[in-house]
Amino acid sequence: MTDTIKIDAMTRDQAVAELARLADILARANVAYHTDDAPDISDAEYDQLKRRNAEIEAQFPDLKRDDSPSEQVGAPVADGFSKVTHAVAMLSLSNAFDDADVSEFDTRIRKYLGLGADTALSYTAEPKIDGLSLSLRYEDGVLTQAATRGDGAVGENVTANARTIDDIPATLERAPAILEVRGEVYMSHPDFEALNDRQAAAGQKTFANPRNAAAGSLRQLDANITRARPLRFFAYAWGALSDPLADSQMGAIERLCALGFQTNPLTRLCDGPEEMIAHYKLIEQERATLGYDIDGVVYKVNELGLQSRLGFRSTTPRWAVAHKFPAELAWTRLDAIDIQVGRTGALSPVARLTPVTVGGVVVSNATLHNEDYIAGRDNKGEQIRDGKDIRVGDWVQVYRAGDVIPKVADVDLSKRLKDAQPYIMPDRCPECNSEAVREPGDAVRRCTGGLICPAQAVEKLKHFVSRAAFDIDGLGAKQVEQFHSDKWIAEPADIFTLRDRYDTGLQQLKNREGWGEKSAANLFDAIDDRRNIGLGRMIFALGIRHVGEAAANLLATHYGTWDAFSTAMRTAEEGNDAWDDLLSIDGVGAVMAGSLATTFNQEAEIASIDRLVAHLNIEEAVRPDTSGSPVAGKTVVFTGTLEKMTRAEAKARAEALGAKVSGSVSAKTDLLVAGPGAGSKAKKAADLGIETIDEDGWLDLIGAL
Ligand code: IVH
Repeated sequence: MTDTIKIDAMTRDQAVAELARLADILARANVAYHTDDAPDISDAEYDQLKRRNAEIEAQFPDLKRDDSPSEQVGAPVADGFSKVTHAVAMLSLSNAFDDADVSEFDTRIRKYLGLGADTALSYTAEPKIDGLSLSLRYEDGVLTQAATRGDGAVGENVTANARTIDDIPATLERAPAILEVRGEVYMSHPDFEALNDRQAAAGQKTFANPRNAAAGSLRQLDANITRARPLRFFAYAWGALSDPLADSQMGAIERLCALGFQTNPLTRLCDGPEEMIAHYKLIEQERATLGYDIDGVVYKVNELGLQSRLGFRSTTPRWAVAHKFPAELAWTRLDAIDIQVGRTGALSPVARLTPVTVGGVVVSNATLHNEDYIAGRDNKGEQIRDGKDIRVGDWVQVYRAGDVIPKVADVDLSKRLKDAQPYIMPDRCPECNSEAVREPGDAVRRCTGGLICPAQAVEKLKHFVSRAAFDIDGLGAKQVEQFHSDKWIAEPADIFTLRDRYDTGLQQLKNREGWGEKSAANLFDAIDDRRNIGLGRMIFALGIRHVGEAAANLLATHYGTWDAFSTAMRTAEEGNDAWDDLLSIDGVGAVMAGSLATTFNQEAEIASIDRLVAHLNIEEAVRPDTSGSPVAGKTVVFTGTLEKMTRAEAKARAEALGAKVSGSVSAKTDLLVAGPGAGSKAKKAADLGIETIDEDGWLDLIGAL
């Protein structure tokens, strides 16, 4: 941006030229944002340019252009869609990549339900549509709301846009009073080509693939633009319901079809892995002629009663899996290997490639995982790629599957240059020069610089503001990098004092290009909005190794409050009660527990966390509604043989009802559920006077008999 000419020193000619330049940039930015769903400048930059334009116009009123950006109406750039909290979370699917994974899926389900190998168990198999998911709420048969998936819990309200899609009925006849229909919005291949032709002819941005085009078209602030885009919708699932649709998945899909929704004609009922895989192969063969993009096949347990027994892990149902199509491949040259330092100090080798198109996307970077991977070994020391190592200058195969980061999969030794040298992983951090060490059992080498390493600090900050963490409007990775290099923020707590420091200090934010008073005020408001933060997001935002989003949510529901969580983490030590309690959480293992305890044991880390917490109001985690549950808050132990459910199912259901399941009987145990063959635990419970019931007694107690 040539922002150097001061307005009060501007000549008339310069003003004319500058007004023309600003009109052009702002018009383009409007199209990029409103029409293409692909903003090319930040909201802050946009505001700053608009203000500069207005100031020049004020100085030279007679030079104001007919197409002056000051006169443009149109939705304000910073405004987005309103938010919708999903009544039933919109989850994702776990993946299967080969036939063995599909058999394992069936085995896992049988094990969980306690079904023998010869008990009949059927599944539906249907294409996995490569679009974006949408939830449609009908009340008394009338479409009242349409929401995107968002982060699964909260999506965007796109009702006006959804109403423009022909496949989405505005009203339904004989539908349940409350019905949330879920499915995929997508664009067909011919419609996609035609849209891109129209865009190109109008000098507007074209889309990389039908999925982007569908997402960009649905997420338009002006529904008239969506109306002009040929979107379609397949229904395949449901959320909140006042009455069941059917008693099987297939029956429910048929009902949705009868209600007027498009359902996928390649949906089949299969009686086990063999038929599922056969249908997968058939869909794979038809893939090229379907006329829309699919990226795999989804299998779902057919009986809805079994689906509800199986329930959910934190982000995926146990009763469904997506069998993905194999990734796409291409060969290119490895030009260099760079090292990136992550927020936990991990040194990750990144392949810089001669750009190559893989499945329609240009790839110039790919992951090389770690030094063993480059050397041709897996993390157990076994050979991969027949032991072939990867060297700079090699001809390598790049593999890309869906949205995941492309990786270097193979190397062609026949094209290796004579002087190619084996790659040596650096033993110093390229960012802070601290020693980089590889602990026994760790696949990666890590920088030991901790908080002094600028790369770790920046990555931690980027993680902190990321979508599933604090998600601060206007503060993305780019701004974090800039603020960090300007020494405005060194740690998360600093974000919350930015407003106070706006016009103090050597580096004033208000003097930075793109940060006028209005954009800065918007940013500070967005930051203030996040002073109230959910416990799960807070824990995830800390960026503790091994604690992903799902684990953070598990910890949040278990501990309920920040105080309970942080006190427990500060005291947890292998063998004590706090440690055992942490490990009793389904989904928390010793590795994660160790990582949490280590973090909350480091003085510098704790001090940094405490500084952050002082600026926040951390909300209590919403625990599953267990009011009315007879076992909420009770510690339950299962022992002996359970005949009507497996241990895993018993534990998951007890926890869903707010009980804590423990593996051993102690004075803290409230209830022992003892099946046949119960031994020492039953005796101990009797000695301690603990109430003991059998499996039927338990099912009766939880109302499942
Ligand atoms: S079922 C509770 N069926 O895939 C899970 N999802 O990777 C409900 N998707 O977010 C999802 N085709 O957007 C289901 N036939 C299909 C699908 C499908 C595409 C998408 C959906 C979901 C994502 C998960």
